[in-house]
Amino acid sequence: MGNMTLVTLLLCLSLGAMMVQAEDPYLFFEWNVTYGTITPLGVPQQGILINGQFPGPRINCTSNNNIVINVFNKLDEPFLLTWGGVQQRKNSWQDGTLGTMCPILPGKNFTYHFQVKDQIGSFFYFPTTALHRAAGGIGALNVHSRDLIPVPFDRPADEYNVLVGDWYNKGHKTLKNILDNGRSIGRPDGIQINGKSTKVGDNVEPIFSMEPSKTYRYRVCNVGLKYSINFRIQGHALKLVELEGAHTIQNVYDSIDVHVGQCLSLLVNANQEPKDYYLVASSRFSKKPLSTVGIIRYTNGKGPASPLLPPPPPENTGGIAWSMNQFRSFRWNLTASAARPNPQGSYHYGKINITRTIKLVNSNYQIGGKLRFAINGVSHVDPPTPLKLAEYFGVPEKIFQYNLIKDDPSSANNQVIIAPSVVNATFRNFVEIIFENHEKTIQTWNLDGYSFFAVATEPGTWSPEKRKNYNLLDAVSRHNIQVYPRSWAAVMTTLDNAGMWNLRSEMWERVYLGQQLYISVLSPERSLRDEYNIPDNHPLCGVVEKLPLPAPYTA
Ligand SMILES: *[C@@H]1O[C@H](CO)[C@@H](O)[C@H](O)[C@H]1NC(C)=O
Ligand SMILES: *[C@@H]1O[C@H](CO)[C@@H](O)[C@H](O)[C@H]1NC(C)=O
Ligand SMILES: *[C@@H]1O[C@H](CO)[C@@H](O)[C@H](O)[C@H]1NC(C)=O
Ligand SMILES: *[C@@H]1O[C@H](CO)[C@@H](O)[C@H](O)[C@H]1NC(C)=O
Ligand SMILES: *[C@@H]1O[C@H](CO)[C@@H](O)[C@H](O)[C@H]1NC(C)=O
Ligand SMILES: *[C@@H]1O[C@H](CO)[C@@H](O)[C@H](O)[C@H]1NC(C)=O
Repeated sequence: MGNMTLVTLLLCLSLGAMMVQAEDPYLFFEWNVTYGTITPLGVPQQGILINGQFPGPRINCTSNNNIVINVFNKLDEPFLLTWGGVQQRKNSWQDGTLGTMCPILPGKNFTYHFQVKDQIGSFFYFPTTALHRAAGGIGALNVHSRDLIPVPFDRPADEYNVLVGDWYNKGHKTLKNILDNGRSIGRPDGIQINGKSTKVGDNVEPIFSMEPSKTYRYRVCNVGLKYSINFRIQGHALKLVELEGAHTIQNVYDSIDVHVGQCLSLLVNANQEPKDYYLVASSRFSKKPLSTVGIIRYTNGKGPASPLLPPPPPENTGGIAWSMNQFRSFRWNLTASAARPNPQGSYHYGKINITRTIKLVNSNYQIGGKLRFAINGVSHVDPPTPLKLAEYFGVPEKIFQYNLIKDDPSSANNQVIIAPSVVNATFRNFVEIIFENHEKTIQTWNLDGYSFFAVATEPGTWSPEKRKNYNLLDAVSRHNIQVYPRSWAAVMTTLDNAGMWNLRSEMWERVYLGQQLYISVLSPERSLRDEYNIPDNHPLCGVVEKLPLPAPYTA
């Protein structure tokens, strides 16, 4: 775990206004964020390191742990990290997006405090500022089940984090300039795994090793900017056991698609002849296929890996059907114990009446010759005052207007607006969100602060009759959903987590150029039962800097 500072205290600790449960253990980290040279595709470039590491240190924690991370920004630009799908219950203050927090200025530090709850599984943290994600600052975040809670598979011999994604050799500053000038960053240059890329036949050290007959957990996350990845291992079956923090029905696959922003866990049994094997990560639905391999070595193994790689799944239209079918085979294991029986407060979600349907359509525009991306005709920009702070301090009208987008974009006019996009939602409403993709590229969407039930995806456009095809029983509860070219996807969730939550494309040039919005979920109570107070250490910026602090929430 590198040189991170990690102390576990079991006793009472006072952390300012944070209403964390005192008996739950604390993990403390101190992170220095610096520039340093990295070579993920063999070409040296400016990377972002955490405590000198790329990828950054792994956070290995257990449900209910309190995580305290003091982040020192030693870059020359403002910086923020987000915690990739780890729900911040009542606590959008720690979500690390520019709509909820002032960025950490160069030379400054900020201490994130949050508690991981009952999402047992695999996540990754990453920067949300500028195009920093194209340079690193990324790392694994594994949440284990507490000892008392049974896990639906035997403890693996070891666990391996596979942070895989497309990569650009142009540095993040060049990429950002391209976008600022209104052009696309184009196609990635390659695929990397844990900061490296390898070709068949390269004389390299193995990245993982396995003891014969033992079983290993591979936690695979797509940390890239654009391309979906297909993951496979020569000669080995992949048993899916976890998807974005939920235990799944344990189906076995030859290869599995992992879309941008998504994580999943695969059990791999070392039951083959003891030698080397290649793992393969290749791009999906891309014009020019990209791939990388890595060597998995059996301890006591004899002999190199075969150069014959397992083939990728079909591409083009057939590939989309293949991938959609694979998505539909992912099911939540309803009998596996979770920390709570109803992690999202909506266990029998199929029986809940929908109170609101929001249809979101992605699109791209040329505005004054410059590329912008939008949702329902609004291309989001982050104002200098974070939206959450403007709302908390009672001056939202100075910064943004609620509900610029319509729930049904067909009723909106066709003009595109560039402005902060905030949707006002009612606390505890059960909502259905439809993502409709009319473009010819695959999209992935992420919602912070919630898990949602991903109930359907189909080609074409959505209509209310499609609801009869929903999986209303055992859809996986997750926070990311891919939407195939010229297709739609539907998700459902209860808006029971008060806060200001980012809904965004996971395709990083799209989010940078406006394809995101915030959902404001306000509890009418102003009560600590529903939302924490602004933490004492929260930096203030923009118009709220000189305003008096609002009266704190009360119990
Ligand atoms: C961070 O940097 C400071 C100053 O250079 C140093 O004293 C500290 O040990 C570093 N912390 C870690 C965890 O590397
Ligand atoms: C991660 O945490 C789990 C659960 O606390 C523990 O069993 C495991 O040994 C830890 N792994 C590492 C590498 O620290
Ligand atoms: C910055 O780090 C110091 C410790 O070095 C800590 O006392 C302080 O609370 C941190 N500041 C913030 C805003 O978290
Ligand atoms: C679901 O979880 C239960 C309880 O842990 C386990 O016994 C069962 O094998 C799992 N079912 C499948 C189909 O994976
Ligand atoms: C859901 O809606 C149906 C039909 O409108 C109604 O009969 C039923 O009572 C509602 N159920 C709940 C739990 O509100
Ligand atoms: C937001 O929604 C709440 C609850 O429905 C309502 O009271 C409030 O007036 C709305 N605010 C705006 C600006 O629409």
